[in-house]
Amino acid sequence: MKSATEIVLNYHQRTKHSLERYAKGPETIDWDDQPELFRRFSGCERLALPKPGRELEVLWSELDTPQHVLVHALTLESVGLLLELAFGLSAWKSDGYHRWSLRCNPSSGNLHPTEAYLININTPVLASGVYHYLSYEHSLERRALFSAPVTGADEWYIGLSSIHWREAWKYGERAYRYCQHDVGHALGALRYAAATLGWSISLMADIADAELAALLGVDRDAEFIQHEHETPDVLCRIHTSVPAAPVSQTQLEQLAATAQWFGRADSLRAYHLYTWQVLDEVSNAAAKPRTASLLNPSTALALTPPRGAIPPARATTLIRQRRSAQQFDGNMAALPSVAFYRLLSAVLAETAAFALWPWRANVHLFIFVHRVEGLTPGLYALIRDHAAVKPLQAATSDIFVWQQQRDKVPFYQLYAGDMKQPAKTISCHQSIASDSAFSVAMVAEFRTTLEQAPWQYRQLFWECGLIGQVLYLEAEAAGMSGTGIGCYFDDSVHELLGLTDDSYQSLYHFTVGTAKTDGRLHTLPAYAHLS
Ligand SMILES: Cc1cc2nc3c(=O)[nH]c(=O)nc-3n(C[C@H](O)[C@H](O)[C@H](O)COP(=O)(O)O)c2cc1C
Repeated sequence: MKSATEIVLNYHQRTKHSLERYAKGPETIDWDDQPELFRRFSGCERLALPKPGRELEVLWSELDTPQHVLVHALTLESVGLLLELAFGLSAWKSDGYHRWSLRCNPSSGNLHPTEAYLININTPVLASGVYHYLSYEHSLERRALFSAPVTGADEWYIGLSSIHWREAWKYGERAYRYCQHDVGHALGALRYAAATLGWSISLMADIADAELAALLGVDRDAEFIQHEHETPDVLCRIHTSVPAAPVSQTQLEQLAATAQWFGRADSLRAYHLYTWQVLDEVSNAAAKPRTASLLNPSTALALTPPRGAIPPARATTLIRQRRSAQQFDGNMAALPSVAFYRLLSAVLAETAAFALWPWRANVHLFIFVHRVEGLTPGLYALIRDHAAVKPLQAATSDIFVWQQQRDKVPFYQLYAGDMKQPAKTISCHQSIASDSAFSVAMVAEFRTTLEQAPWQYRQLFWECGLIGQVLYLEAEAAGMSGTGIGCYFDDSVHELLGLTDDSYQSLYHFTVGTAKTDGRLHTLPAYAHLS
């Protein structure tokens, strides 16, 4: 019998892409058989949320200091805006023949395996219960009503879950990794959406997956089609204008046990040509048990990104206009130094965006600088936890010089030289990694984290996704664009950095630059179909 840690380590190893072969995926993709992009439940009441598209006055740069942002009242309209800015549609794209939707949260392959559930306890805005968010219609599907009242609590939670198969349809065995990235991006999207309303979120780090599954109703197997089930990911408490004491774990369990449930998930309409057993294996091995409560070890707001570096723009506008660049302008002017340092400091663990993160920073950035004002092209590192500097110096190539670039920013030059070709090659030959201002390999403290607890495998990817979401939005605020890169050759990255074992592993790539627009595509409004 293999231990859970061994199963997770094996999964990671077998889903590496390499120069010689890609991780196992479907041999053919039938585009007509694409999974339905929107999960719907039949047989439950559907409640339309107030009209989407509302703009708020708050500026992007004001979200750095959330304590100064106007706190909006808890109404159905503000709850709708929270869901829209986090998980709603942001636009449709069309090439004249096909059209496809984009959402505020990005997703690998635009497949959107992440589902969001709203849990209301006692607040008068909605009946207490569990609601599935349907982004296409900007509506809530009432999955459950709580019958037992909870005394002394008025609470909102949002729970996330993933339909692994939806991602595996295209990406096969590597899909589980992408689902976890997407959860991290969704967490970031939710954090920024809450911040525009003057609200915040905290992550319930103690809850077990089985408890979360019961609360979200995703363990009700008879109500889901085989292979289209959802796996619980995270539960977030939403801190709104209504002060409240948190509901205890036992109360949450009681609510789930006594709830009245409605509806069943519609089919996602595919014939499941391939099944990927390894996804269920790793998912079971990386399931989280109940753990002790944690407090965020970093002091949020100790550091705020340099102000004045970005043009003033409404936060709600920026969130809706975020797009992945599909091509970058390789002749772009160098990214101004002030904007670059704002981007770097925005991903440090002490900033407002990471106040929700209850674990220590385990992910560090190795940065391929191509076109940044004042910096010699080359390889750099941003180490997000001071304690990690020495071990990383010892683990990486001994030709790296580790020359600190700025006081108080843990940013080091490692190697001077043109890194465009290596960056492109290791990112599955994608030129988005070389035509940009810079691209990033996110390197996680891997083996020790997994040996402590195998479920922390997912948490490492969530941390990467959260960093990615900050980069996406900060790039947009700087007038640039970003793109997540899930396709990279794992061990070629390690070789380039001089990493010789799995103490550290590269878990995600990202790139930022000036996007080239594709004149063949048209952008259409997000919710014209509702009017
Ligand atoms: C985890 C993750 C991995 C991604 N990997 C790639 C990639 O390797 N190459 C690429 O061109 N785009 C990649 N993307 C971008 C997605 O294709 C993009 O998010 C999706 O099409 C939705 O478009 P949008 O971000 O403009 O909303 C990735 C996005 C995410 C979130």
